[in-house]
Amino acid sequence: MSVVPEDLRGELEADPRTGEIVARLEEELGAAGDSAALERVRVSFLGRKGRVTALLQGLRDLPPQERRELGRLANLLKSFLEKELARRAEQLRDREMEEELRRERLDITLPGRHIPLGSRHLLSSIIEEIEDIFLGLGYQVAEGPEVELDYYNFEALNTPEWHPSKSLQDTFYVEVPGADYRDVLLRTHTSPVQVRVMESTPPPVYVIAPGKAYRHDVPDATHSPMFHQVEGLAVDEGISMADLKGTLETFARRMFGEDRQVRFRPHFFPFTEPSAEVDVSCNMCGGGGCRVCKGTGWLEILGAGMVDPNVFGYVGYDPERYTGFAFGMGVERIALLKYGVPDIRLFFDNHLGLLEQY
Ligand code: DAH
Repeated sequence: MSVVPEDLRGELEADPRTGEIVARLEEELGAAGDSAALERVRVSFLGRKGRVTALLQGLRDLPPQERRELGRLANLLKSFLEKELARRAEQLRDREMEEELRRERLDITLPGRHIPLGSRHLLSSIIEEIEDIFLGLGYQVAEGPEVELDYYNFEALNTPEWHPSKSLQDTFYVEVPGADYRDVLLRTHTSPVQVRVMESTPPPVYVIAPGKAYRHDVPDATHSPMFHQVEGLAVDEGISMADLKGTLETFARRMFGEDRQVRFRPHFFPFTEPSAEVDVSCNMCGGGGCRVCKGTGWLEILGAGMVDPNVFGYVGYDPERYTGFAFGMGVERIALLKYGVPDIRLFFDNHLGLLEQY
């Protein structure tokens, strides 16, 4: 298909000089398939050193008659070329634009890509729930190190040398260059935070201390070598066992349901005297007896007692003036009881099927 219209071409071909340019033009313009190529064509004909430009510049050296003749043809060619280039440039621009739009087309009706959202781990939620209950009762949250000294984990908690929990079986000891064997350990409970708090704060204190604890246990449905506890401590003038009971009853009801009962069973802990294990009436069966409470109607949820005056001796509190209570609960155990999770190991498998339920 020719580029230059029939009649104009006939006229231009009358002179070999314009005729030759027309022939080149047919060839090059026909082949220019994009804007960049078209621009190269423009430069090669109309640019400063272009063929048409050269032709026009050469006119002045010609005799007047020839100059007029050829000048007319050259100007015809030039104005045709300018219009034709502009027309094609616009066409190509439109086409290129359309292509680009097609390439970048977005289908906004496609369904969105699902980005999975993380959520709190059940144990973290329970710790937060416990914190909220005690914050509401005026307690503060305290923390202590997981790598502890024997002094805080045992000695200042009135745990005698012969106490079974000090044996290698229960405690992970940490080898520290320069320290005595068995001086440094992974805390076996959160109770050492009690000592650290009392050591650094004068009474009254009302704190809870959530955190990890470690014991040399073989994992099974109810044991894990790493687990979580929440410790509680209240020391003030005139604190009695009745305050402990009221506090734990309030806690048990907020945690397990308003109609829960608590009961205290005598027990022994080195750092409290008297000590008790505390049960809450089973939230699964309401106390009638079921699989979760093993038919007893009661669930053991924590250990507690009145702070032993010997512990006050270690931290410099005056046992004549102050009394206090303490308690410690296992977070995994509370989660098992509250949600009926059958196996403690499920908390640490990070199985989404479990984690996404809560
Ligand atoms: N530390 C105890 C344990 O790990 C739990 C405990 C019992 C903490 C009595 C206390 C307490 O503060 O008074 O088994």
